[in-house]
Amino acid sequence: MRTYTIASIPGDGIGKEVIPAGQRVLEHLAKKSGDFSIAFRGFDWGSDYYKRHGVMMPADGLAQLRDLDAIYFGAVGAPDIPDHVTLWGLRLAICQPFDQYANVRPARVLPGITSPLANPDAAKLDWVIVRENSEGEYSGAGGRVHRGLPEETAMEVSVFTRTGVERVIRFAFELARSRPRKLLTVVTKSNAQRHGMVLWDEIAEEVALKYPDVTWDKMLVDAMTVRMVVKPASLDTIVATNLHADVLSDLAAALSGSMGVAPTANLNPERRFPSMFEPIHGSAFDITGMGIANPIGTFWSAVMMLEHLGEKEAAARLMGAIEATTKQGRLHTPDLGGEASTELVTEAVLDFLG
Ligand code: IPM
Ligand code: MG
Repeated sequence: MRTYTIASIPGDGIGKEVIPAGQRVLEHLAKKSGDFSIAFRGFDWGSDYYKRHGVMMPADGLAQLRDLDAIYFGAVGAPDIPDHVTLWGLRLAICQPFDQYANVRPARVLPGITSPLANPDAAKLDWVIVRENSEGEYSGAGGRVHRGLPEETAMEVSVFTRTGVERVIRFAFELARSRPRKLLTVVTKSNAQRHGMVLWDEIAEEVALKYPDVTWDKMLVDAMTVRMVVKPASLDTIVATNLHADVLSDLAAALSGSMGVAPTANLNPERRFPSMFEPIHGSAFDITGMGIANPIGTFWSAVMMLEHLGEKEAAARLMGAIEATTKQGRLHTPDLGGEASTELVTEAVLDFLG
C-alpha cells in the first residue's frame, strides 16, 4: 500500500476550520480506496505561534517539511500583525525556498453554483491560471531609506529572470496542451513596463515555437480583466506574473461564484521539494469561529494534491463528490448565498464518497 505523509499547516483564521475538514475527507477517501493511506503531520505555525515565539515558524521549519510528500495549507493573516510579516514569515517562506514556481489556480463554475456574470457564456467559464510564484513583483528586492523624513524613499523591485520566466511559460504551454482546447493566453503589461514584461513577450514567442499544436495569444493585463468579464468562453489556460495573476485569480474566483470554492497548487514540478496545496480565500477573520467557512476550496485543493501524488482515481472521486454537493443549494455556505455550515458540507461530501 502506498503511504503518504502530508504536512498539515492550518495557519490562521478559518484555515483552522477548513483544513481539519479536508483531513477528514482525505482520510475517509484513503480508507475507502484501500490503495493508499495518508498520515498527517500537524504544525501549529502561524500568527498564534508568532505571538508566542516572535517568528511564524521555527528556524528549522523547512527541514521539518523537506522530506514529506506534500503540504496542506490553510491560510495566513491576522488582524493584529502586519500582513507582510505573516506572509513573508510563512507562506512565502515555504513557497520560495521550495521553488514552488508554478502556482496553478483553476476557476470553473461548479454545478449548482451561479456566476455573478450576467453574460450567457458565464456557465462555460473553465480556466486555469498559472501564476509565476517565485520572483517578479514578489521577489522581495528593494528597500526603504530615510525613514520618516520628507525624502523617505521606498523601492519595490520586480525581478524577472530568463530561467524563471521560461520555466513557467513552458509549464503553462504543457498544461494548455494537456487540456482539450489547447489554448493559452500570455498576460503581460509590456506597453508600459518595457524591460521585464518585454522579456516575457520575447520568451513566450520562443517557447511557443516548440508547441505548434497550442493556439496562443497575448493580452495586456488591463484588457485581460475586460476579456474575462465580456468574453469568458474565449479563455482556457492563462499564464501571468506573480502579481498580475494574483489579481486575475481573485477576479476568476469571484466570477466562478465565490472565493470560497477556489483552490490552488503551489508546485515544484521537478519534485525536488514538496508542493503545497491551499484554498485561496485567506484567513477571513470576519467569519472565523462561526463554523460557516466554505470548505469546498480546501477539498478541491485536496483533489489537486491527489493528482500531484498520482492518485488520479481518488482525485476524480473526490471531485465527483464535490460537484454532487455543490449541485444542491441547501448545501451552500453563506458565501454562495446559502445557510449551510462547514460541518454540513463536509458531511455531505463524506456521504457522497460512500
Ligand atoms: C494569494 C493571496 C496572497 C498573495 C496573500 C495572502 C499575500 O492573496 O494567495 O493570492 O498575494 O500571494
Ligand atoms: Mg491573492
